[in-house]
Order: sequence, then structure tokens, then C-alpha cells
Amino acid sequence: MSFNPLQHKGIAIEDQLRPWSDLNVEPYDKEQVHPYSRARGLLANGIEVEAVMFSHHMARNTLDGEIKRKLAWLRRIEAQQQKAVNGLIPGDESTLEVTLGYAQGAVDLTTFIAQNEPDPYLKQIYDFALLEDFDHLYRYANLYQLIEGKKADAVCRGLTEIMPGRPACFEHRDPNDDVRRPMTALAAHPQSILNALTLVAAKQQTLNFHMTVGNRHREPIARGLYTEIALIEEQHVTHYESILDPTTSWFQNLVLHQWHECWIYWSFAQEEIDPRIKQIYETHLAMEIEQLRLACELMWAVEKRDPETILPVPTFTVPLSLRENKSYVRHILATQTDLTAKHADFVPVATLPSGDRYFAYRRRVNGDWVPSEDVVRQNVKANGKAYRLETDGPHPVPGLRTRRDNQETDYARVTKRAA
Ligand SMILES: [Fe+2]
Ligand SMILES: [Fe+2]
Ligand SMILES: [Fe+2]
Ligand SMILES: [Fe+2]
Repeated sequence: MSFNPLQHKGIAIEDQLRPWSDLNVEPYDKEQVHPYSRARGLLANGIEVEAVMFSHHMARNTLDGEIKRKLAWLRRIEAQQQKAVNGLIPGDESTLEVTLGYAQGAVDLTTFIAQNEPDPYLKQIYDFALLEDFDHLYRYANLYQLIEGKKADAVCRGLTEIMPGRPACFEHRDPNDDVRRPMTALAAHPQSILNALTLVAAKQQTLNFHMTVGNRHREPIARGLYTEIALIEEQHVTHYESILDPTTSWFQNLVLHQWHECWIYWSFAQEEIDPRIKQIYETHLAMEIEQLRLACELMWAVEKRDPETILPVPTFTVPLSLRENKSYVRHILATQTDLTAKHADFVPVATLPSGDRYFAYRRRVNGDWVPSEDVVRQNVKANGKAYRLETDGPHPVPGLRTRRDNQETDYARVTKRAA
């Protein structure tokens, strides 16, 4: 089934304003919710946060009061939409459980995108970060067992394996090596644009989340782990945002954002299994269709350019679908765990000269305490072994197979390329 949002009629903008009682949605039941329903909710929230923040930045760079007022209306609706999806998270889900939801969602979202990316360079960018977010799930799962005494699989339900990825302590890179080459929006495949907008928004929200909740625990190991992972999420936003076309104008960008929101809700309205949540996505899709039309109108009015020229193929054909991707993740683990970034490209760590800035940066930030290593060490001490969920066999990287409490000692084996 395909869908062209420009050929549908949405909800008039005045009718999009909702009373508080509509926005104060009933949260999902954390015992019952499907992990991908949770992940879709988190992603929809990230998309709406992006819509709000993009609009604020655009308004701050706009002189014309009339345009500012139009943006303010659109943004008010985006802010309401954000409340409606963010309210799905129940208050009895702990901060760490929400974090596990973010981490699992990141893994299965990135695998979907990597597998649906037509451009090989962009696919490499997604596969590269996939292994890092996959590792975050493992670190947080160990923290969860250590401080809440529970198993992360109660949240992830066996859909995503939990074991080391590219170990977090090796993910820290000099900022010079986090900037990628941008795509050219006009030449890019429309799916590449949708993919990039999705991951930029998702990762920006993951970073916002870490920047906010990193101080919500008492335990030094928890505060340390959130601090360390937050800095990797900062790298990930730098990594992903650098692939966007920097020559896109504010108005083009506004159109692209609304078009992208249409894709997200068109996808989620098909994919969501909880009928109550599905209804929210259907409503939001009808809202975004009109928001897209208004954004196109603004672009016409100000830039005198046909918005359809920047949406060469406005029709969506592939819905964003969260699925179990264990064999794909295992394949990327087996072939790419030993990679790091050099300028805008990716190389095996073993090929770097010993004086490379990668080693200097890592030594500086890791200092004499690495929370992502210590959390596993402490959990081994408390529970006898590290928490893992390996449903499909031993770890594909021999150097990461043993449940050692200090992965760093094994990294020489990891970087020698997986067998
Ligand atoms: Fe929105
Ligand atoms: Fe992550
Ligand atoms: Fe990330
Ligand atoms: Fe929107």
C-alpha cells in the first residue's frame, strides 16, 4: 500500500487544538505493553520534540512577524501532540526501565533503517552506530539487575538479544572523527531522507533524555553510567545530523519535517497493535497532513518555489516497521565490532597508528574509572555473572564470548576482527 499525504485531506488547523483531558492520555500497562508499542511511543515523542524544537529555532531566525505567528500556531499543535504521545509512558515504569525501552528501540529502529537504506555510505553510518546502541542495552541491563534486582528481559521480552556490542569504553572518539559527509537532498533517494530525519530526531531525543534523567539515581555507578552514555549519545547526534543536507532552507526543512511526520504516523497507524494507541496515531496522521499542506503554503509564499520540487516522490511505499532483527545484528557484530571512525570514514582500530588521536581521547575521558566497565564488574560481583540474554547461540565475536568483568582486557582479541 502506498500513501501520498499531499493527496489527502487532513484536519483543519483550528480543529487540531485539544482540551487537556484529551492530552492527558491513559498510559500503557507496563506489564502488558508490547516492546515495540513502547518503542513506537518513544519514537513518536522524539519526532514531536524535534518538531517543536525545530520550529523554535526557525522562529528565532525569522524576521517576519506574520510567519512567526503561523509557526507559533503549528508549534502549539506539535507541542500538544508531544504531550499525547509522551503521556503513554506510565509513572510506575522506572527511569531505568524507560532507558531500557530507549535502548531496545534504538537497536531495532536502527536495524530497520540500515536494512532499508539504499545508499551504501549511509547504511555504513547506521550499522556503525547500531553496535554502539546495542552495547548500551547491555550496560543498562546490568545496571538494572544490579540496582533494581530485575532482569531486563522483562522489558525486552526476548525480541532483542542482550550482550556486549562495540564496548562503550571504545566508543569514545575525538569529535573530529564524528562528523560525516552530508547527503544532497535533491539527489538523495526519498527513503534516505526519511531515514536520516528519523534517526536524527530519535537520537536527539535520546540525548535530551540522558541530559535530563542522568541525575535521577543515587548510586554513583548509575550516575556515572548515564554520564558516560550521554556523551556517546552526543557523539551519535553529531554523527547523524552531519549527514543531513546543510543547504536545505528553513522553509524546505519545515516541509520535510511535516512530510516526515506524515510518514511516521502513516507507518505507526498500520503497525500499532494496541487499538487505543493506534487511534492516536491515526488522529495525528490526519493532523500532520494539514500541517504539511500549511508548510507547503508557507514555502510557496516566502520562497516562491514549488514544494513538490523538494519532495520529488512524496509517496510513501515502505512503512517504518519494528521487528526482531537478531540475525542481522549478529552479522554486523561479527563483521564490524572492531571498527572505529576516522574523519568521515570507518576503519578497523588495529589499522590506526599508536599516536592516533583516538587513543589520546579515550585515555583522557576513560581516566582511571570507566562506569560502563565497572557496572558489569559490580554486577558480576553481586550476582555471580554478568547479565546477558543470548537466545541464538554464543556471542558472534570470540573476544566478547566470555563473561569477564573487564571487557577491556579482551579488546585486543576483538580488534583482530571477528572470526
Ligand atoms: Fe507533529
Ligand atoms: Fe545508545
Ligand atoms: Fe545512540
Ligand atoms: Fe507536524
